[in-house]
Amino acid sequence: MTDSRAFLLDDADIPALQHSVARIAASGYSETAVRDRLGLKDLCDLQMRAAPLYRGERLAERRPLDTAIDLFLLQGTIGAAELDRLIDKEDVGFLERSGVLRIESTGEASANVSLYPAGNQLIFSDHTWPQLSKAGSSAVPFGQVMFVGADSRWLARATVRSPVSSALDLCTGSGVQALLAATHCRRVAAVDINSRAVRCTRFNAKALGCSNLEVFEGDLYEPVGKEKFDLITANPPFVPSPVNSIGFRDGGRTGEDVQRRIVAGLSDHLAQGGMAQMVTEIGERDTVPLADRVREWLGSAPIDIHVLRLRIHSAEAYAIGHANGDTPGEFLESVDAWADNLRLQGFTRIVSVLLAFQWSDPLCGPPWNRVDEAYPPNRDAGKEIEAAFAAERLTRDPGLKEKLKLGRVNRTGPVILQEGRVLGGTVPLSCKATLSGQAIPVEYQLNPIERGLLDAIDNPVYVPTLLKIARQINVSESSLQAGLASLLRERLIGLQES
Ligand SMILES: C[S@@+](CC[C@H](N)C(=O)[O-])C[C@H]1O[C@@H](n2cnc3c(N)ncnc32)[C@H](O)[C@@H]1O
Repeated sequence: MTDSRAFLLDDADIPALQHSVARIAASGYSETAVRDRLGLKDLCDLQMRAAPLYRGERLAERRPLDTAIDLFLLQGTIGAAELDRLIDKEDVGFLERSGVLRIESTGEASANVSLYPAGNQLIFSDHTWPQLSKAGSSAVPFGQVMFVGADSRWLARATVRSPVSSALDLCTGSGVQALLAATHCRRVAAVDINSRAVRCTRFNAKALGCSNLEVFEGDLYEPVGKEKFDLITANPPFVPSPVNSIGFRDGGRTGEDVQRRIVAGLSDHLAQGGMAQMVTEIGERDTVPLADRVREWLGSAPIDIHVLRLRIHSAEAYAIGHANGDTPGEFLESVDAWADNLRLQGFTRIVSVLLAFQWSDPLCGPPWNRVDEAYPPNRDAGKEIEAAFAAERLTRDPGLKEKLKLGRVNRTGPVILQEGRVLGGTVPLSCKATLSGQAIPVEYQLNPIERGLLDAIDNPVYVPTLLKIARQINVSESSLQAGLASLLRERLIGLQES
């Protein structure tokens, strides 16, 4: 259920809104505190279906933080005395008037919208589980504003947080990405086609006292004309869907209706030296790697593409996960419709990805696609995205061979090796390396030369020294150079030029 008053605010009420949020924050309500209180490794792992378990097992003490979690995240109902310990009486009055809280005649309170801790911000949006108030219902209003979900958090964590002058957040929803961008970009524009989302983002900007964010209602780039931006973020509706029932989710039958146009518009809107980042899901056919499809959407624009493949869902699991229905019969019919659509598109799997785009450096050859198999970011990872671009460019630098001839290489940090071997056999069947301590762990399959090099580079070592050793064991200079280039590309080793 959505409350039509929610996210509407008179300017005179801004101090009351900010005071209420400050009181809730004072309970310790933050991403890390909520995660720890609920006993989760990551707030992305929150399961709304487990709300009664969290309530009974983790929030039983009913400290103000427990109350805040129950009321603003788990969609619970709170007694009047408990509410009084969380927020002041005047705040309760204001939150009720503005449609955030619903107070029953018994004094019990529940929230009409949720308040999500995201990074260092608190963001209002519609509930994660709008069906909750209507048992068995499959209906989510078309104009529902997207909750702050795992995809929102992945994009927020992966976003490069350098201070720049302008940012554009497309498909802003609650405004979570735009509001985070406003902490390091001089000016931010946020766009959404849904008027309720626009209201919600403006409400959040007021709650956070954010004055460098402009919010537009419109279709993607249309409200910003020909303007270019240093940072572009987007979390579009991306689900390949046989229905068009949830505005923030359904991306047409291919899932590409919106995301394709975002990528196509980058050449007109990404400033030189800027970074565009998008979280999305893309249907993959066995015959065409998804990075090639993204390249097609870009047209001929000389832009480099970095793809982090985070999760792979089989078409069957995806159909079951998205199907709905109030009776078993309706549910199975819905599974059929979703599966049929994916089959029709030729998608055998759907891949959750983080995409990043930068203008190509012509000195490093033609524009490239880099694809990494990775885990979702578990904390801020913007620096790792930048480092992946830098490493890719270094390995495409035509001068790399010369640099390597004289330079020194070193391991960049502890490396986790996962070796598979047959018992009794001597040769490892496979060996995967992951640089330890990364917010986005990336797994890289090593070949035997790369594996040997990682051992040999225990301490910083000159490449000519490695070359001598290589010759003794019949490894050619070109194989050694190729091995070093791959390890540099994976950031498992670094190069100090002399
Ligand atoms: C997945 S939600 C993203 C919300 C938010 N950015 C986040 O990261 O949590 C997608 C949003 O895209 C908006 N949207 C859909 N089509 C659009 C379009 N053509 N132009 C602008 N926004 C659009 C929807 O209204 C929805 O708010």
